[in-house]
Amino acid sequence: MNKKRLSGVAISLVLLALCGLLAVAYPTRKPEARVAGSARERFGLMDTRLQDPPGEKPVEQVFKNIQILKGLPSSQIYATMNFMRASLDVECEYCHLKRGPGNWDFASDDKPTKGAARRMISMVMDVNRTTFGGTNAVTCFTCHRGQSPPATMANVMKSKAQNDAKAPAIDPKLVGPLPEVEQVLEKYVEALGGKAATERVKTRVIKASITEHLLPTSPLEIFQQSPDKILFVITTPKGMIAESYDGTSGWIADGKGPRRLDGPAPALLKFEADFYRDLKLAERYLRMTVAGRDRVRERDAYLIEAVTPEHKTEKLYFDVQSGLLLRRVTFIQTMIGLIPEATDYDDYREIDGVKIAFARHREQLQGFEASTIIFAEVRPNVPVDKARFEMPAAKP
Ligand code: HEC
Ligand code: HEC
Repeated sequence: MNKKRLSGVAISLVLLALCGLLAVAYPTRKPEARVAGSARERFGLMDTRLQDPPGEKPVEQVFKNIQILKGLPSSQIYATMNFMRASLDVECEYCHLKRGPGNWDFASDDKPTKGAARRMISMVMDVNRTTFGGTNAVTCFTCHRGQSPPATMANVMKSKAQNDAKAPAIDPKLVGPLPEVEQVLEKYVEALGGKAATERVKTRVIKASITEHLLPTSPLEIFQQSPDKILFVITTPKGMIAESYDGTSGWIADGKGPRRLDGPAPALLKFEADFYRDLKLAERYLRMTVAGRDRVRERDAYLIEAVTPEHKTEKLYFDVQSGLLLRRVTFIQTMIGLIPEATDYDDYREIDGVKIAFARHREQLQGFEASTIIFAEVRPNVPVDKARFEMPAAKP
């Protein structure tokens, strides 16, 4: 793998990671440096008629030795790999050759486990196609459950008492009928400060910091203009990176100059740019259902399952008490399964009558692709020059 080219993209992808895009520059990160954490592996039978991000190269055109995963959008390779890694509870090295510190040969077929994994991927795709109507009913996790090789026998010695002891205690407050979707959404808007207060804000300038695996904690500035423009500016030791959604398309400007974004990035930026999205959650989705109750960071939450117009399922967790959004989980549809990506919203503070989450943490399975943004200062309704959101001209 061309390391020089990869470290070039590494920096430019920081902000994409912030928007949930996978860093194609993964090998610059130490794969073993992952944060321990609980993986929320709830892969139900979801609507999987998902669309590939437009304008993206398939993995076989970007990587050297792809035999099975042909057609997978290249932005999904590391999410897919991490999913396999987490399902078996192994490290990348279990299947891939490491020739020295930081010196990976991912294309090599020297490890027999990589060959086994190829057969397993084919098997999973076959069984889902032939038996489960093309859904992601079976994934690596279905059998492996964090072990390799998987258990072949039920644990006959496990007593009922043991199982009961493991079940989470049910909070008495959580018993009772579930609210309607409308009630949860109304309470959310109220908790944020109400529609009127939210709509009074037209622009926002935010000073923050971002911590992400490719970089030391770096200053981040966010400029927002209603209804649909956003600009992120991050100052790294290697220079500045700007990334924006200008109302119609996304662009990035870094050491390699300004350019339009393709793949999944523009849609993710557009989501961040949608200034009043909290007021119109019901409009964003084709369907929403209150699916149950859950716990998020020690808090009781209502879980709403929502289906986007692109037929992607999202999970939204609202605090039972405060009504605020605690977590949003989206899913990346890959060939071998749906990979969840969670964004947690925390430390809500009121600025001019509107509550804003000052802490945002995003990660995939077990801390993979984790990024944390902490707001330090939020200034509403300060003038923001429209030209800021326009892609700068390339330097000659
Ligand atoms: C369970 C085995 C397994 C684990 C664990 C695993 N991989 Fe892979 N990896 C594979 C297989 C199999 C392929 C080839 C897929 C194909 O042929 O379609 C592959 C291919 C790759 C490639 C493309 C290499 C090329 O040039 O063709 C990269 C990059 C990669 N893996 C990175 C990773 C990283 C990073 C991790 C850890 C997060 C990881 N893998 C964990 C099995 C694994
Ligand atoms: C239907 C159940 C099932 C599914 C689904 C499944 N596996 Fe397996 N896997 C097994 C079994 C059983 C073995 C042990 C086979 C053996 O011992 O010969 C195994 C073995 C392996 C091995 C070799 C382990 C070793 O010790 O040699 C790897 C690697 C592996 N699986 C990866 C995966 C990956 C990656 C996926 C998802 C793409 C997956 N498996 C999905 C059942 C499954």
